[in-house]
Amino acid sequence: MNLRIALLPGDGIGPEVVAQATAVLEAVCRKFSHVLETQSGLIGGTAIRATGNPLPDETLTLVKSAGAVLMGAVGHPEFDALPPGKRPEKGLLRLRQELHVYANLRPAICYPALAALSPLRQEIVEGTNLIIVRELTGGIYYGSPRGIHREDGEASAVNTMVYTRSEIERIARIGFNLARGRRKQVISVDKANVLENSQLWRETVSAVRDQEFPDVQLDHMLVDSCAMQIVQNPRRFDVVVTENLFGDILSDEAAVLTGSIGMLPSASLGAHTGLYEPVHGSAPDIAGQGIANPLGAILSVAMMLRHSFHLEREARAVEEAVAKTIETGVRPRDLKGNDSTEQVGRAVIQLL
Ligand code: IPM
Ligand code: MG
Repeated sequence: MNLRIALLPGDGIGPEVVAQATAVLEAVCRKFSHVLETQSGLIGGTAIRATGNPLPDETLTLVKSAGAVLMGAVGHPEFDALPPGKRPEKGLLRLRQELHVYANLRPAICYPALAALSPLRQEIVEGTNLIIVRELTGGIYYGSPRGIHREDGEASAVNTMVYTRSEIERIARIGFNLARGRRKQVISVDKANVLENSQLWRETVSAVRDQEFPDVQLDHMLVDSCAMQIVQNPRRFDVVVTENLFGDILSDEAAVLTGSIGMLPSASLGAHTGLYEPVHGSAPDIAGQGIANPLGAILSVAMMLRHSFHLEREARAVEEAVAKTIETGVRPRDLKGNDSTEQVGRAVIQLL
């Protein structure tokens, strides 16, 4: 198979982890005889510094001609004082919109060897294997009107949370389909006791279940209660389907309870090109030191092989190599070890 991948290393530790993930991708392609073609583009703060734009046109052209996109991270404190529209993050938000990747999959798996690193007691976190399906191109992130108004000495700010029924239906279907390959349990998260938006969400998800997925169990949960239950009993969750902002918050919570957010991959899927990125972000405090955990980015490559190229065997091979790497005691700094980003990447390649 021919894999054309656009690489967007971005800011902070992004370039370091993408380098290791790319090395793993090269190794997979060698092992399974695929042809790999990669091309790099600018995004985020790096792109602002070079071109004044967090998502330059060249990057957009590049990603639209690729089979899949591997991103590192965006964000840098240098831009902290700027309004949302001028920040590095805007590049990522526009990229998601341009690629129409409305479904963001964020699995959180507790590796037995890492259970002791969880901020939760081991007996609570052990056996956790959940996936958050976050709506990614709608809701309050993108709704209008939005803005800050300053008039007569008073300021006010507005953001709009808006969803159409069809936007809710398509993300619900992704969740139910995923559940069919897992434990067949979907929890839909909303704030239906307060928000009309959530009432439409709840009603629509229920209708999709009744009409198309009667074999899947569906429960509804309020977002505040979900935040609590994820730390009380994470094992009870299989597939969590939720809107953009709630998914942003819950996925950080779910990520850290498995040991380290450095382990977590993500896939953003839509009609065509998939976007893959580790969940951890740019971590400017440790950038350039060669100590970042590349496993989130490497596991994102596994998700890419599975979801964009339907190469299940190759995806499993990467996931198994990561699991073995951890079992053999290789540990970057966030997992309380001393191995460098490169050493961790090399260990995965050796075990592949
Ligand atoms: C994430 C991040 C982004 C988001 C930021 C960087 C815009 O937090 O992917 O979870 O809020 O979606
Ligand atoms: Mg986030």
